[in-house]
Amino acid sequence: MPEKVVTAIGTPNIALVKYWGKRNNRLNLPMNSSLSMTLDESLNTKTSILFSKRLKRDTLYINGEKHDLEAKSTSEKIFLTKGVLDSMRQLGKNASKALIVSNNSFPTSSGLASSASGAAALVFAASHALDLGLSERQMSIFARRISGSASRSIMGGFVKWNRGEEHDGSDSYAEQIASQSYWPEVIDLVSIFHEKEKKISSSVGHDLTLKKSKLYFARPEYAENHVKEISEAIQKKDFETLAEITMQDSNNMHATMLDTYPPIIYLNEKSRDIIYAIHSLNESEGKNIAAYTFDAGPNAQVITLRKYSKKVTEVLKEAIRDARLIEAGQGSGPRLLGEADSLISEATLQPK
Ligand code: PMV
Repeated sequence: MPEKVVTAIGTPNIALVKYWGKRNNRLNLPMNSSLSMTLDESLNTKTSILFSKRLKRDTLYINGEKHDLEAKSTSEKIFLTKGVLDSMRQLGKNASKALIVSNNSFPTSSGLASSASGAAALVFAASHALDLGLSERQMSIFARRISGSASRSIMGGFVKWNRGEEHDGSDSYAEQIASQSYWPEVIDLVSIFHEKEKKISSSVGHDLTLKKSKLYFARPEYAENHVKEISEAIQKKDFETLAEITMQDSNNMHATMLDTYPPIIYLNEKSRDIIYAIHSLNESEGKNIAAYTFDAGPNAQVITLRKYSKKVTEVLKEAIRDARLIEAGQGSGPRLLGEADSLISEATLQPK
């Protein structure tokens, strides 16, 4: 197979019904199904990959920081990435080592799903570089093994990740339930006011909550019902219900985190200011025109309809004066980029 650099762009997704708690840590199998909206390229990760016989080791650069995938003391995400790379190479009957260069357009590890867009772009690029011809379902399973929420970034529009029952994870993959053109009025106002890395990584958080929260036992069934209700709301284009469930589900997940002992608190005062501002806006409108949701970090994502974007933006600016606001529509999932976007110099086998 000719050695060539393949470059892909991937985007985050925002979960309207959250994944929190794993029934298998090694395979990232969730306790409940979840449902998300894939964002457009306003926030993105670009990833280039090269499999080459000239390379001695698997190396990954994330935003310029070098990670040796074969070093013994690697982080969990790096370890899982190496496992996925090995499985994909096995499938492609290709033993060459890989150089991967990945750049995020937005803060990494601050609760903005950088791992989801990164893992989706990596799996998409690797699948093409190795000519595997994988289906979306197969790519979703590989992406899930790196970072659970990444399983949902393989498809565009509204996406459901099925919990699955099998021990090997073969039925735990994401599927699109409505494409990005079905209800494009739904958008996400991403409000960034905290750019530091979170203190408790999501993998540690998943595990501690499951083990140490006494409220958690009620969460999986509650979330599973939310997935059904929100899927119906999407089919009917019923924004009021979508907004209500989105806020309740985020609050419920953060309640189990707070109930973990010692507590895990990702939200801060600014997050709370946004929660109050959105409730007061919805109250004054007499209906839900916006919904907040928070992942494993304090930054808010506010779901609204395009026609309310200006009004909601004003409310957010008023609530948090120094926030960076990014308006993201729905995206179509990862895609390949051309040679001009390559992040790897083939001559030196180094990042450009
Ligand atoms: O995919 P992970 O392990 O980074 O977990 C992320 C979980 C949340 O973002 C908090 C919720 C979700 O469903 O995306």
